[in-house]
Amino acid sequence: MELILDKLTKQYHNKITVDRISLKLQKGVHGLLGANGAGKTTLMRMICGVLKPDSGTVTLDGIDVATEEYRAKLGYLPQDFGYYPEFTGMDFLLYMATLKGLTKKQAKRKANELLEIVSLKADENKKIKNYSGGMKQRLGIAQALLNNPSLLILDEPTAGLDPKERVRFRNIIAEIGKDNIVILSTHIVSDIEHVADNILMMKDGQLIYQGKWQENLGDLEQFYLKQFEED
Ligand SMILES: Nc1ncnc2c1ncn2[C@@H]1O[C@H](COP(=O)(O)OP(=O)(O)OP(=O)(O)O)[C@@H](O)[C@H]1O
Ligand SMILES: [Mg+2]
Repeated sequence: MELILDKLTKQYHNKITVDRISLKLQKGVHGLLGANGAGKTTLMRMICGVLKPDSGTVTLDGIDVATEEYRAKLGYLPQDFGYYPEFTGMDFLLYMATLKGLTKKQAKRKANELLEIVSLKADENKKIKNYSGGMKQRLGIAQALLNNPSLLILDEPTAGLDPKERVRFRNIIAEIGKDNIVILSTHIVSDIEHVADNILMMKDGQLIYQGKWQENLGDLEQFYLKQFEED
């Protein structure tokens, strides 16, 4: 399995937000680090096919991002995920499953399995408006997993998680990353240290570092701060 980005570029007005990023990723957990405005969300939206690049391509095993076949392999948690406050957690997952083309029976089974995995089984009949931030975030992760994606894109999935939830989240992601490509963005260096095999670092729309942090970086937090110290 291979995700290939080839000179992916996006410009807003006269600002280049993603600047000719080329990248090949295999299965594993890839941590995308970068300051506010570095271009992480813009890059992820292009990888998910919700934003059309100005130039460049995205393919998964040769399948273009703009195809139904690609979408079927994709799971996505956007940074600004919209929930339906009056839905219960269970309603929401069943609804999302329908949108993703699961049958009623498949949807039920999968929703139950995922609610268990993200530890929301006990709260499945509560309305989302009564969920905490961390509970919503876990529900967002669950919906991204409905179609057993081989490419999972999570834009700041740990925002709002408490330390205990963070550990639980890492375990889920590590498990998925064994057989699939996972890309997650975060500002929290320790999230990445504990879960990511590979680091991607973005600054001003460019990829300034890619590699295994253990081998090359020593202290990741120090390295990260050094890259951004003039900002
Ligand atoms: N729709 C848009 N129209 C104009 N400019 C945009 C748009 N989306 C993003 N930008 C700009 O592109 C740059 C990168 O934004 P992006 O959201 O990709 O950064 P980010 O790394 O995800 O930041 P954060 O860590 O805050 O989520 C910013 O300067 C932002 O203002
Ligand atoms: Mg962002």
